[in-house]
Amino acid sequence: MRSFQSNNVFPPPFIIIITMNHKTFCLLTGIVVGFTIAFVFLAPSTVYRGDKGAPVRRTKDSRPPRIDSSGHEHEHDEFHREEDMENLRGPDQDVGEHNENDTHHRMTDSRIADALYNKVKVLCWVMTAPKNHDAKAKHIKATWGKRCNVLLFMSSQEDKTLPAVALNVSEGRNNLWAKTKSAFEYVYRKHFDDADWFMKADDDTYVVVENLRYMLRNADPQQPVYYGCKFKPYVKQGYMSGGAGYVLSKEALRRFVEEAIPNKKMCRKDPGGAEDVELGKCMQAVKVKAGDSRDAEHRGRFFPFDPAHHLIPGHTDRSFWYWSYVFYEEKQGMECCSDTAISFHYIGPHMMYEMEYLIYHLKPFGIGYNPSLD
Ligand SMILES: *[C@@H]1O[C@H](CO)[C@@H](O)[C@H](O)[C@H]1NC(C)=O
Ligand SMILES: *[C@@H]1O[C@H](CO)[C@@H](O)[C@H](O)[C@H]1NC(C)=O
Repeated sequence: MRSFQSNNVFPPPFIIIITMNHKTFCLLTGIVVGFTIAFVFLAPSTVYRGDKGAPVRRTKDSRPPRIDSSGHEHEHDEFHREEDMENLRGPDQDVGEHNENDTHHRMTDSRIADALYNKVKVLCWVMTAPKNHDAKAKHIKATWGKRCNVLLFMSSQEDKTLPAVALNVSEGRNNLWAKTKSAFEYVYRKHFDDADWFMKADDDTYVVVENLRYMLRNADPQQPVYYGCKFKPYVKQGYMSGGAGYVLSKEALRRFVEEAIPNKKMCRKDPGGAEDVELGKCMQAVKVKAGDSRDAEHRGRFFPFDPAHHLIPGHTDRSFWYWSYVFYEEKQGMECCSDTAISFHYIGPHMMYEMEYLIYHLKPFGIGYNPSLD
């Protein structure tokens, strides 16, 4: 429940009260009492559609990101809604990299990952918008995005440096489904031969690309299958959460573009609807299997929230929508998450670098890790 406690950003009420006359005091007291009653009685039933098709319960933590007087965003807050991420912006200054020959980087052995890079080819496309090219997209390119075999940003304005593709779609949450269809059509037309697997992520998703290749190492891209964080409702075989990202096999991509999109009985034609649910329906219609992405210990690998949200027992109440959506049971605490986790969502641009540092740099000295392929 910790996340539902709001941080106190207002001065204590009594300080305001002692500076007011009696009439104003009564008026304000009335307003405060009225709103409090309205909040207490209405809030629990105020359910609205999140952009990912999931009804999100309005909670005290669904407040916009706070920007302090020096312009610092409080990105350490834990986010549960897309609206909370809207105004985040990464650093303007280049964060840079370590030299591969640095004392400790020399000790890193990436031969297996390098071999998988050539064996399991992954195209990543990231859903973004013109206002986020600089604020978010370039920080994905500087971090996890560089590990994809092909990296593309899907937008409505071209930007050759990212590169961002100008899709012929309107921006905004109500057009995400149109954008998803156009993006996969573009990828199918221009990059079908460049990869075996086609991963969609948001501009606030962090992906450990090596772990994606590891999960897919024995899977056949000619089979119609897709993987992600599987949700139960709306689609019989389940569908993949949009925010955690999902990956389509080559055959799944071909069926989606060739068979599903052109057929309005299989796939929603208009631009509206929740992108992930609609994709899930199309996939089921063309018999693309909703795969199981859990590891050998049955721990999850794709996550629609940040690591703390999944790791800390009781972080969200059991009535939080997520718990009734997850297809496979998610254990509490450390057991939730695979050591070969693939994605986390609601990762702001600053946290992209934090994840980078924790995953690829910081090492406990003297503890080796000897990965091997079965
Ligand atoms: C690291 O060392 C190798 C071998 O001496 C050299 O070829 C390479 O350019 C060095 N890399 C960097 C980034 O300095
Ligand atoms: C863009 O989409 C609109 C509406 O669907 C269409 O009329 C127009 O021809 C399209 N433009 C291009 C360049 O494809």
